[in-house]
Amino acid sequence: MATFVADPSVPRTPADQITAALADPGFGRYFVDHMAHALWTPEAGWHDHALVATGPIPLHPGLAALQYGQEIFEGLKAFRHPDGSVWLFRPEMNAARFARSAVRMQMPPLPIPDFLDSVTRLVELNLDWVPSAPEQSLYLRPFMFGSETLIGVRASNEYTYVCLGMPVMPFYPDPLKLWVTPNYARSMAGGTGGAKCGGNYGASMIAEHEAHAQGCGQVLWLDSATRSWVEESGTMNFLVVTADGELVTPALNGQILAGITRDSLLTIAAAHGLRGVERPLGFAELCSGIESGQITEALACGTAAVVSPVVGIKTPDLELVVGDGSPGVKTRELRAHLTGIQFGTEPDVHGWLRRVG
Ligand SMILES: Cc1ncc(COP(=O)(O)O)c(C=O)c1O
Repeated sequence: MATFVADPSVPRTPADQITAALADPGFGRYFVDHMAHALWTPEAGWHDHALVATGPIPLHPGLAALQYGQEIFEGLKAFRHPDGSVWLFRPEMNAARFARSAVRMQMPPLPIPDFLDSVTRLVELNLDWVPSAPEQSLYLRPFMFGSETLIGVRASNEYTYVCLGMPVMPFYPDPLKLWVTPNYARSMAGGTGGAKCGGNYGASMIAEHEAHAQGCGQVLWLDSATRSWVEESGTMNFLVVTADGELVTPALNGQILAGITRDSLLTIAAAHGLRGVERPLGFAELCSGIESGQITEALACGTAAVVSPVVGIKTPDLELVVGDGSPGVKTRELRAHLTGIQFGTEPDVHGWLRRVG
């Protein structure tokens, strides 16, 4: 395993400036002092693992990622517990997903130990940047991209890995209304929907814009082939609670991102009297279930929001209110349980936390 070596000359932000930043960190407004950086070439493989000063890196404008979109990323968080200790949440899941995304995009996977070393050392070196205010955390953004100057269309022969760290605000998600777009698709069989690549997000922005124009906070994506199966929502997976005590989410089919929050909710569901179920979820079943009361709650989940209650579904010819239109009881319980584990106020019985400092 390669170790990310800290550059001792990286300037340190004075404590009073960190305190001022943490008073109102926004989401990506301030970056920690170091960023992880590594390079890949065919001759040397992954090399030059280092923690350098966060800032611009010289790049040629003809680089592969800018021309052809060979780029993947991840998102995970470090949390400060009441005793002051700092913990990462399931980082090996992000490392494994990053490697799978790389394979799909014909990129050389960063070895899982290297990924884990980069995030661990980045947090260790910047512990003062980990907020202690309620629900604030340190967000980590690992990403890699084809960095060869490349105008002919083929896979890049050079790659750059970077991980940035930033304190982020508590994210109290508003109850969401979801828009089912008739015009756009996110994913298709054989496509990149199951990978966390930048292009997926660029391609979905027009639909998000459409959702906002419809008074909705996000898009609920259906499968592109038949528009009859529910997939996911924006940067979140989608789940429903049924009157039979199930927490149902669409099965992973290569077109949906394998969310770590999704997996965590399916696991803790039992503690809330729910059976976690992964299976195809028909859009017709979703609509009739909401209308009949068989579906009692809907929610969307991901690292940033953890859990967002879904209170409405809108299509060009239909508008449905989920339950009584307010966040569901199980939705609130699941959110409180998961954030409790992350912030160290609920026991971590599944062994999901990795201590950093
Ligand atoms: C498209 C998409 N689906 C689902 C998720 C939720 O994944 P996670 O819970 O790992 O953050 C994300 C966020 O990474 C996403 O971008």
